[in-house]
Amino acid sequence: MTKVAIVYHSGYGHTAVVAEAVAEGVKRGGGTPDLIRLESAGQDFGPALDAVTAADAVIFGAPTYMGDVSVPLRAFFEASSKIWMSAGWKDKLAGGFTNGLTFGGNKDHTITSMWILAMQHGMLWAGPGVPLGNMAGNSTSAPEAANRIGSALGVITQSDNAGPDVTPPAGDKEFARLLGERIAKLAAR
Ligand SMILES: Cc1cc2nc3c(=O)[nH]c(=O)nc-3n(C[C@H](O)[C@H](O)[C@H](O)COP(=O)(O)O)c2cc1C
Repeated sequence: MTKVAIVYHSGYGHTAVVAEAVAEGVKRGGGTPDLIRLESAGQDFGPALDAVTAADAVIFGAPTYMGDVSVPLRAFFEASSKIWMSAGWKDKLAGGFTNGLTFGGNKDHTITSMWILAMQHGMLWAGPGVPLGNMAGNSTSAPEAANRIGSALGVITQSDNAGPDVTPPAGDKEFARLLGERIAKLAAR
């Protein structure tokens, strides 16, 4: 079965909710998700790096902190440099997601950081493939609309200053499921 590693960090639990939705989508697409939560920049990244190497595809996730990926994911990226030297992740399928407090919040830059990492490794980047701003529906920004923020490079979600049990909203979680589903199906193909 197609294995999809989901490597993510979440400081306060909101990005973890998005990661779980991505994993549900992977299952919906017929794949097996391997959810790997990073805890700190100083941790041993060996098991997480091995999990990505063993997977058919990888989806990176992090909250946007100060307009970029949070530090534990950045440290994980730097820890992948030895694998980069041997082109160990070349041709692996990759995607990404981020979550932030604001609608803009420079979150595109966070996804771009993930994309550049994937391109440095020679991986194949896949976006969510969901119409921008739910153009198929009547509303572009309703909380129940998938891709209400309008992102093509990766999944971007928005959480209010409330607990991860109530935010991000349903449409954002469905957007995350659609990315997981797409990457699982593409990896199988
Ligand atoms: C240090 C710090 C920096 C942040 N910078 C941004 C930012 O640049 N853009 C944004 O939209 N939200 C920003 N936020 C808000 C978080 O992205 C938001 O609260 C998110 O839901 C946190 O996800 P988490 O619960 O998975 O840690 C920042 C939060 C912190 C703690």
